[in-house]
Amino acid sequence: MHFKKLPVLKIEHINKDYFVLGVRDKELTQKIKPGHFFQVKDPASRIPLLPRPFSVYKVDNDELEFLVKIIGEATMKLSHLSTGQDIQLLGPLGNGFPLVSGKKVLLASGGIGFAPMPFLEHKLKEAGNEVHFYHGGRSSNDVFCDSVENCTDDGTFGHTGFVTEYVEKYLDSTHIDIVYACGPEPMMKTLTIMCSKRDIPIYVSMERVMACGVGACCGCVIKIKENDSIVYKKVCNDGPVFYGAEVVWDA
Ligand SMILES: Cc1cc2nc3c(=O)[nH]c(=O)nc-3n(C[C@H](O)[C@H](O)[C@H](O)COP(=O)(O)OP(=O)(O)OC[C@H]3O[C@@H](n4cnc5c(N)ncnc54)[C@H](O)[C@@H]3O)c2cc1C
Ligand code: FES
Repeated sequence: MHFKKLPVLKIEHINKDYFVLGVRDKELTQKIKPGHFFQVKDPASRIPLLPRPFSVYKVDNDELEFLVKIIGEATMKLSHLSTGQDIQLLGPLGNGFPLVSGKKVLLASGGIGFAPMPFLEHKLKEAGNEVHFYHGGRSSNDVFCDSVENCTDDGTFGHTGFVTEYVEKYLDSTHIDIVYACGPEPMMKTLTIMCSKRDIPIYVSMERVMACGVGACCGCVIKIKENDSIVYKKVCNDGPVFYGAEVVWDA
């Protein structure tokens, strides 16, 4: 696998913290599954040297989008790109979310953990699942659409409080077959405990700082319970999606 250079098709600023970056490539879009990510780099910029991982946000025919939160140097530089300028992409990488059909499904995201969810939601609905979607952010700045159950810590949009509180109430009132989550680790840990208590399978998309993204540097390992022992797995190759109950939560 090698980096592919593509012109930026779209840069859309949502607010001061988030933007959407789009490219067009039929060969890539045909291979993408929900939960896959790409290593992305601005070829014109030598600093930072390493690419950064971003989940696939939306796929529409031959168009592919990322939802990016501006955190540091790489994401800031990407946010300053204009349409027509080149970016480099390596991927699709990772294992993606295992899909089900004909089930009652709950999606739960927090902050930029929203990024892989719209594409997952689309594929789950296409496969005949009933999908309920809860998203949590610190404030209205971290809300991306109003067609989901939004919760904000400060009450500036949707329900006031942590998304986990509302998911718990929902799980107590409605039968759900499977949960998919992406967000801060304490949130995913709490959701995993809730699901374990109710015997509901949960898949979580984990985040680690990545150097290579392809299993070569061992910089992204996490601890996983396997056959009564604890093993190290690579988030880039073995994940980023793991079965929640098997993750050894550090948070
Ligand atoms: C599989 C995967 C998928 C991702 N998908 C998305 C996505 O769709 N959209 C998105 O905006 N971001 C996503 N991220 C996170 C994104 O890769 C980082 O925010 C990005 O690398 C930050 O780069 P930067 O150079 O702007 O900031 P940096 O200068 O690299 O980071 C600034 C500081 O933020 C912290 N930090 C950065 N990255 C991480 C991390 N991964 N975990 C913990 N702390 C970190 C560190 O303290 C660091 O010093 C994903 C990460 C992974 C592993
Ligand atoms: S980022 Fe290098 S092994 Fe995962």
